[in-house]
Amino acid sequence: MSMRIHLSRPDVGQQEIDAVTAVLRSPNLALGPALSEFENALAAYVGRRRAVAVNSGTSGLFLSLLALGVGPGDEVVTTPFTFIASATSIMMTGATPVFVDIDPVSLNIDPKRIAPALSERTKAILPVEVFGNPAGFDEIAELAERHAVPIVEDCCEALGSALHGRKAGTFGTLSVFGFYPNKQITTGEGGMILTDDDALAELCVSLRNQGRGPAAADPPARELGVVVAPLAPQSRGPHDLSRTPKPDGWNTSLPPGPSRRISPRTSPVCSKWPRAPAAA
Ligand SMILES: Cc1ncc(COP(=O)(O)O)c(C=O)c1O
Repeated sequence: MSMRIHLSRPDVGQQEIDAVTAVLRSPNLALGPALSEFENALAAYVGRRRAVAVNSGTSGLFLSLLALGVGPGDEVVTTPFTFIASATSIMMTGATPVFVDIDPVSLNIDPKRIAPALSERTKAILPVEVFGNPAGFDEIAELAERHAVPIVEDCCEALGSALHGRKAGTFGTLSVFGFYPNKQITTGEGGMILTDDDALAELCVSLRNQGRGPAAADPPARELGVVVAPLAPQSRGPHDLSRTPKPDGWNTSLPPGPSRRISPRTSPVCSKWPRAPAAA
């Protein structure tokens, strides 16, 4: 008798179906209370102050880099052995990924090779817990602190992992989980940014929703809005910039207006605009 063992398979039961159905029956299909509940639960589980849900891990990495002010001319040190989004999220900001070789045992970026790769243009280090393994992340966190470089932790594959009692998702200035169906938990599509920095969290909240302020009635900031908010249940629609990178002349022919998409390449000022402007 042969038995097929899946590399990964979502475990969707009646409880999950009921939870999704309850949201579908509610008036809040986007950014509703179920989402806040999920954000609070994940922040508490991992042990971070703030959690900001987005529509994919890729979006989470992209917004984290934007929130740190990463843009054209900057460098971000990362690993070449990962899912492609770790590098493309850097490229989507206009910055350059600087690849550092991996440790042959852990398969993660080799902490000892990071320091020589840092330059005056380095704006962040983006290490990845490959296959969920946080090996070396204590060394990376120590090194980043010594060099005063923020970490964007790509822990998309690592929910529930820990190193010497420290959970994955706590090593980054911003840390990003992904909820694609091959992950430990799934929302179909989805991602979550975790941080202890309230200002960075608020900036991510704003950036995920057209550059709006925290109140639902706040107006979009026309130049800065990036729609990467998850729906409930999450879906990946045509609004998902992270999946359709067109770095050169991204919708630049569109007239200005609330639905205008921005190109990070032509609008490197995102991080300097932490709030949507007050309504006139
Ligand atoms: C290491 C890593 N980074 C980033 C991503 C991107 O996540 P998503 O597919 O949700 O955009 C994934 C997952 O697919 C991943 O495994």
